[in-house]
Amino acid sequence: MTLEEFHSTCSALAADAPALIAAVADLGAWGDLRNALVGRTSGRLTDIMSALGSLPKEDRRAAGQLANATKVAIEELLEKRRAELAGAAKTISLSDPTMPARESWRGSVHPVSLVIDEISGIFRELGFSIALGPEAETEWYNFQALNFPADHPAMELHDTLYLEGGGLLRTHTSPVQIRTLQKYPPPVRILAPGNVYRRDFFDATHSPMFAQIEGLAVDEGISFADLKATLTHFAKRFYGASKRTRFRPSFFPFTEPSAEVDVEVDLGDGRGLRWVEIMGCGLVHPSVLESAGVDSEKYTGWAFGMGPGRIAQSRYGIPDCRVMFDSDMRFLQQFAK
Ligand code: DAH
Repeated sequence: MTLEEFHSTCSALAADAPALIAAVADLGAWGDLRNALVGRTSGRLTDIMSALGSLPKEDRRAAGQLANATKVAIEELLEKRRAELAGAAKTISLSDPTMPARESWRGSVHPVSLVIDEISGIFRELGFSIALGPEAETEWYNFQALNFPADHPAMELHDTLYLEGGGLLRTHTSPVQIRTLQKYPPPVRILAPGNVYRRDFFDATHSPMFAQIEGLAVDEGISFADLKATLTHFAKRFYGASKRTRFRPSFFPFTEPSAEVDVEVDLGDGRGLRWVEIMGCGLVHPSVLESAGVDSEKYTGWAFGMGPGRIAQSRYGIPDCRVMFDSDMRFLQQFAK
């Protein structure tokens, strides 16, 4: 090869390289091009270098310098392009469909529902089924059929939310007792969870809407012993087998005799072991059975009513009942499994 030929081969390579390098679209193609241009064993620059030996001795020095300058220039261009392609690859990976998906939102069961579910489970084992009734009731189902006297204070305007055109928002779940007995002849064993409404302020311990669970068992020969045994069993299942329970005399228009059930528990609030009221109960008043069309000479029964909201508050240490109505995720997520 003559020096002139050597020159033109070098400048042809120098002239081609920028366009070739700019044209590669990814790192794979870039690697192939680098081999083709400046690859160690083959490639256009290697051919040039090996041609050096065929030049006249006196020309080799200048030719070597030219080849080297061409190599450095090409390598600089290659490196610049590589950096560009690597940056672009990073940008592309942001929309890479194989990236892990965003974490999905998981719902949680509300603490009051958790308590209702657990209580329902215990009574289901004892043969109770679930019964439901309307939240908008008639005065008859909510009061009269349950043996409330006409002047009972619970019926006052300032205690009950009356609806226009008659009716009211039920103040307790007890009307479900009447509706169930009207539909199904004894033996009856039901649990009736649901919301009830009262004209109450919304503060740390009151809410105008809250949940109740009603229980009712009606059959031949049912006595107070059945009530005590069942509710004691329930308290031990729910709070722990070692827990003590006690029955205190009380009054409700729809039961006779009536009682309040307490369980002795340590709620972990630093106050130690103490008696906590968990429900009201009693033997169903004969006039309640008669209102529902049940023969009170043949059948007897017992009933109870409890507040799962209160139970949730004591069980989970919730000091202010309002958080149970706020839909605040920071509160609710603590109950996610
Ligand atoms: N209905 C009562 C209330 O809302 C709760 C209650 C007490 C229900 C005693 C009962 C019962 O069935 O036997 O305060």
